[in-house]
Amino acid sequence: MAAEMALLEPVSKFNTKIPQISNSRTPCSRFFTIRMSATTTPSQSARKKNAGKKEIQETLLTPRFYTTDFDEMEQLFNTEINKSLNMAEFEALLQEFKTDFNQTHFVRNKEFKEAADKLQGPLRQIFVEFLERSCTAEFSGFLLYKELGRRLKKTNPVVAEIFSLMSRDEARHAGFLNKGLSDFNLALDLGFLTKARKYTFFKPKFIFYATYLSEKIGYWRYITIYRHLKENPEYQCYPIFKYFENWCQDENRHGDFFSALMKAQPQFLNDWQAKLWSRFFCLSVYVTMYLNDCQRTAFYEGIGLDTKEFDMHVIIEVSVRPQIYSPSIKFYRL
Ligand SMILES: [Fe+2]
Ligand SMILES: [Fe+2]
Repeated sequence: MAAEMALLEPVSKFNTKIPQISNSRTPCSRFFTIRMSATTTPSQSARKKNAGKKEIQETLLTPRFYTTDFDEMEQLFNTEINKSLNMAEFEALLQEFKTDFNQTHFVRNKEFKEAADKLQGPLRQIFVEFLERSCTAEFSGFLLYKELGRRLKKTNPVVAEIFSLMSRDEARHAGFLNKGLSDFNLALDLGFLTKARKYTFFKPKFIFYATYLSEKIGYWRYITIYRHLKENPEYQCYPIFKYFENWCQDENRHGDFFSALMKAQPQFLNDWQAKLWSRFFCLSVYVTMYLNDCQRTAFYEGIGLDTKEFDMHVIIEVSVRPQIYSPSIKFYRL
């Protein structure tokens, strides 16, 4: 996942614990904390073991992790039950994912640390927040896709493997962003996040709507920033944006996969309730994106973008132009 899907908003809470990355487990706590850890020495962190921990209440604009009805998912992807599944299309998608176009793309260099050291004052803080929010959004996708890959293995190994390969992509994206945080002497505690965050339940139909939108929005956000900074290199203040061109192709592939998934579930697209729900999701995701971005306009101005124009461009590309090029998703429009 790339975009902060409805409703995703990481929060900076700093403490001085060394990050503990552990395996994912389904968390269920009512509140969550996103722990940021300063990358200090073990002795420092031991002294300040519990410093900075806070709990915050979820709101509509709070970042979320997602879970779903995996039994229903298994039925949806059972080729015995669902005759609309175009397995040839999924096989082709699987080959594309296996190619792993970005296997060697995410390699850092010394520019990162140097650029981070130059970022000072309010812009530095807003950059940290950008890295943190993006990392959380990517990690949210990793967890969901990883679980879907695991749960669908028996029912539909092809679809399951695609989910697993998408989780590979998202883990790579989240890891790269977390490495970016290390340039600012910070790290997001992803292991803690996995265990402590509240997971929001969406039925499969809504998972499809929301993740499709998230991936396509992510693609358009990344490519728009990349193209803008290529044309205006004076705003290129941190090298991570140079990676967005190839990176966003991962998100585009993920979005295409969800588009194929929805085509295989015509009942989620064609009746009047589906049309209303898909529009509702569209609207709520866009409103949330706009509200979140307006709160962080300093970031967009910092890289030379007008926040409102940027968001409008993304919305038009995701929801208006596809009507022309891709009739299969024609009712994702405002
Ligand atoms: Fe991603
Ligand atoms: Fe993605």
